[in-house]
Amino acid sequence: MKKSIFIPLTAIAGIAIVIACNTTKTTTKTTTTTTETKKEEPKKETASTAATYNGNVKAVLSQSCTGCHGYGSRKGDFTTYAGVKAKVSDGSFQKLVIEKKTMPPREPLSAEAFATLKSWVDAGAPEN
Ligand code: HEC
Repeated sequence: MKKSIFIPLTAIAGIAIVIACNTTKTTTKTTTTTTETKKEEPKKETASTAATYNGNVKAVLSQSCTGCHGYGSRKGDFTTYAGVKAKVSDGSFQKLVIEKKTMPPREPLSAEAFATLKSWVDAGAPEN
């Protein structure tokens, strides 16, 4: 009689210990897997100030210059890239627009438009 009770008790105790060990092991494992998903921060600071001929220079020129400097103008044809480039190459663009600021003669450029033309000319007036 005494043995038949003793065996199941030790069996239950043994199972209880195994379960206890397993549960503590699994809980410590799950805590280590959640810390490795950080996203890289985007770096887009330089793109906003870069001037390109097709992106914004052309628009400034047609807004402020081509009314006078139209197709075939002897003072500079700013309807084409080649026409603008010619005046950058001979230095008159830098002199009148960037340094003296006498062009355009009537309505001065906005600060933003001026900065666009300046940074483009400073970059070598690329056809971009
Ligand atoms: C209201 C008319 C008018 C507008 C607008 C105008 N220009 Fe002029 N531009 C002239 C005239 C007229 C001349 C010639 C002046 C001179 O030779 O003294 C000239 C000359 C120039 C020259 C010198 C050309 C050369 O061969 O010596 C440059 C460069 C120039 N302009 C750039 C510009 C730019 C860039 C703009 C726009 C931001 C502009 N101009 C807007 C009328 C204008």
